[in-house]
Formats: sequence, structure tokens, C-alpha cells
Amino acid sequence: MRTPLIAGNWKMNMTVSEAGAFADELLKNTLNESVEAAICAPFIDLPVLIEKLKETNIKIGAQNVYYEQSGAFTGEISAPMLKDLGAHYVIAGHSERRELFGESDSDVNKKAHAVIEAGMVPIICVGETEEERDSGRHTAKVAGQVKAALEGIAAEAAGELVIAYEPIWAIGTGKSATSDDANAMCTSIRTEVEKLYDKGIADSVRILYGGSVKPATIEDLMSKSDVDGALVGGASLKTDDYTALVSGA
Ligand code: G3P
Repeated sequence: MRTPLIAGNWKMNMTVSEAGAFADELLKNTLNESVEAAICAPFIDLPVLIEKLKETNIKIGAQNVYYEQSGAFTGEISAPMLKDLGAHYVIAGHSERRELFGESDSDVNKKAHAVIEAGMVPIICVGETEEERDSGRHTAKVAGQVKAALEGIAAEAAGELVIAYEPIWAIGTGKSATSDDANAMCTSIRTEVEKLYDKGIADSVRILYGGSVKPATIEDLMSKSDVDGALVGGASLKTDDYTALVSGA
């Protein structure tokens, strides 16, 4: 049985004081304990979130990482640094990083390795463009991203992974994939993982959907067989919406 996961991805939002205020507000709400809650925040917000939410079950994650352990990489943050801080998850390969910062499948794979080696869990993002979907290439594209991201990752680590299917055309657009389409892609991803490993690992990997998820849409999404949760951008920035997402899951 896979524990549902609702992970917020704040992207480049929330100053340290706003993050602290968000945590204070969130602590007043009761979250659905049968659902795992996580917030992936900007690096500068991690310490205040980890400190303020340390008595809760809410996991804190980063949105990126560099894959070297240390050295002359100005401006970068390593996986050991994030682990030392208390981060649990690290997003790798978000489409915005692939598109805006030129992250390749190989970069994503190296980041996933570094995150696992440091004792954290990668949330590996995959997803197609509208053009790829319209031309029927979406399944092959996403399968290729999954294969590349998991290259060389040991079976025992693979089962703990989180993969987020985020169709690029649904991110930030208000135009979510239908729950059936989201589920079909999550099933396809799980099938790809089974090909790479075995059924046991494929059944334990958690696969999230991301792309304009709102409190009003989460229950339908979560009713699907292969959707194990959501990676949520805009709707994770307000405590009441975030609480509703976790409750609705
Ligand atoms: O990583 C989640 C994000 O890409 C989805 O953003 O605002 O469409 O929920 P949003």
C-alpha cells in the first residue's frame, strides 16, 4: 500500500519571513494524518520551515541540488548540505529547470544519485510538451525520461523514489490533465519502472501528478489507481489551500 503524498513546490516564492508566517499559520490547521505532507521550498526558507515544523510529520524538501559533493561550484548547494540541514526530499528535473536552466536527462540522473547517496529521496519530474502530446509522442518521451533518470540507481533505492508526472502544458496554466489522462501516464510510468526493475519495485514507487492541481480536483485525481499524490505549485502557497489538498487526498 503506497502512502499518498501531497508535496508543495513553492518555486521562487516566499521570503524567509513569509515562510515562517506560513508555518505558524499551518500549525493551527489539522492535517489528514493518513496522507504524507511535504513542502519543497527555496533554499533560504528551509531552516525556518524545518525548525518550526519539526514537531509535525510534514517533510521539508529542496527544489534543486548540484550533484558534486563539494568544491568550486559557485552558487551551488550540495546534497550533503541539504541532508545536514534536515531536508528529506529534493526535486530533480523540474521542467522549469530543464527548460530555463538547460538541465539534461544526464544532469537529472546525477542529481538523483547524489540525493540518494546523501540519504534523501528524489522527486524526479518528467513530462511532455503540448506538441509532443498532440503528436502522440508523450508516452515515449516520458518513458525515455524515466529510463534516463533511473540509470544506475540500485533496486533497493528505486523502491523509495518518487516520480512526478507533470505535463508541461498543464503547469501554471489552470488547465489540468483529466484524471484519466493523468492516471494513464502514471500507469505507463509504473510499467516503465517494472521493465527497468521488477513488479515489486514498480508497485512501491510513488507516482505523483502535477500541473494545475487544486483542492477541487485532488479527490478525483486520488481516486485513480496509479496516482499516489500530487506535486502542487500555486495551490500550495496558501495554508488553507494546502490543508485542503492534504485533506482531499
Ligand atoms: O512542481 C509543481 C508545479 O510544476 C505545478 O505547478 O502551479 O500548476 O500547480 P502548478
